[in-house]
Amino acid sequence: MGLHGRFERSGVLRCAQKHKQKQEQGQEKEQEQRQSQLPHVSPMKPGGTWGTRSGLMGAAGAGDQKRGAKDKVKKNRLAKRRQAWGTGGCRNKGRRVSVVEWNAVAYDDLSDPMFEWGMAVLGTLELRGDERVLDAGCGSGRLTEELVRRLPVGEVVALDFSPKMLEQARRRLASVGKQVEFVHGSLQEFALQRQVDGIFSNAVFHWVPDHAEMFRCLHRVLKPGGWLVAQFGGVGNLAKTYGRAHDVGEREPFREHLKSDRESAHFEDVASTRERMEAAGFRVSEAKLHTVVPRFETQERYEAFLRTVVLREAMAKLPEGLQREFLDEVSDRTRREEGEYSLDYVRLTVRARA
Ligand SMILES: C[S@@+](CC[C@H](N)C(=O)[O-])C[C@H]1O[C@@H](n2cnc3c(N)ncnc32)[C@H](O)[C@@H]1O
Repeated sequence: MGLHGRFERSGVLRCAQKHKQKQEQGQEKEQEQRQSQLPHVSPMKPGGTWGTRSGLMGAAGAGDQKRGAKDKVKKNRLAKRRQAWGTGGCRNKGRRVSVVEWNAVAYDDLSDPMFEWGMAVLGTLELRGDERVLDAGCGSGRLTEELVRRLPVGEVVALDFSPKMLEQARRRLASVGKQVEFVHGSLQEFALQRQVDGIFSNAVFHWVPDHAEMFRCLHRVLKPGGWLVAQFGGVGNLAKTYGRAHDVGEREPFREHLKSDRESAHFEDVASTRERMEAAGFRVSEAKLHTVVPRFETQERYEAFLRTVVLREAMAKLPEGLQREFLDEVSDRTRREEGEYSLDYVRLTVRARA
C-alpha cells in the first residue's frame, strides 16, 4: 500500500491538499530561482563559523573570459555542494520529505543523546494528566512512552513519517492499548480528526523541509490556547561534523557518489523560526539556542551513530563497499581535531501557545 493509502486509512484527514498542489507546481521553478539567489555559504570548517567564501566567489578579472567560465563552473558546483550538507536557512521550502528510511532498531539502541534532551524538555511540561498530546515525530517511541506515563488518563497521538519508526514505536507501546493513536504522516501536510491540547516534539523539525507549512499544520491541530514545546536542530547544528564529512566527500572515491545530492536537514535561526511561528498564528514565549556535545566512548559506537543518524542520507548514496572507509575517515578526523569522538549539536527550543 502506498504512503497516502495508509495515511487515509489510518483515519487521518489530508490537510493542506491545496498547499501541496501549489508546492508541486511551483517547485521546479522555485528551485531554480533559489539556486541563483543563494548566499554563498559553505559548511563551517573546524573552529570557524558559517560564512562566505568570498575568495571563491570573486568575480573574474575584466576581459578574462576563460577565467570567468571557470569561475562559473566552480560557482555552480559550490552552489550545489552548499545544499548538500545540512546548510542553514530554510532553502527546502516546497521540497518533499526525505524518503531515506531510518534503521529504527539501530536508532532505538543509539538514541540516548536524543532521549536525554527530550527528557529534559518533558521535565518542563506542566501536565494535569488528562490531556490529549501530539508527539510530533515520535521515532521509535522512547519519549512517547515517557509522555504516556505522564498522562495516566490522557491520550497521545504518535505521528511519524517513517513506517519503520512507527512499527518500532508500536512494538514498544504494545501494552498501552488505546491510549496511543499511531498516525503515519508528514508534519508539513497532515491534520487530525480531533484537536490536541498540546504538542511535544524532539529532534524532528529540522528534517521537515517546509517550516511555514509545518507550523500552519501544527497550529490547526492545536486547540485554541493549546501549547507547543519543541526542540530541534538550530543554526550551526553539526557544522563541524558536516564540514568534515563534506571535505572527505569531496575526495575520490566518494566524490562521484556524493557530488550532486543534498542532505535534507536544515537548521534555522531564532528570528526566522519566531517569524514563521507567528505567521502561523502562534504566540511564542521562548525561542533559544544552546549547544550540546555528546561524546562516544568507542569509534565503533561513534560510527554507528553517524551511520544511523547524522550521515544517514550520505550512507544511502554510497555503495556499501565505501561506507566503512568514509565513516573511518570522518571519525579519524574528529578524533585528531577534537581529541575525542564527539558531535557539535546546536538545539533550538521553542515554546508557544495557539
Ligand atoms: C531523530 S528522530 C527523533 C525521534 C524522537 N522524537 C526522538 O527524540 O527520539 C527524527 C524523526 O523525525 C521523523 N520525521 C522526519 N521528517 C518527518 C516529517 N516530515 N513528518 C513526520 N516525521 C518526520 C523521522 O521519521 C524520525 O522518526
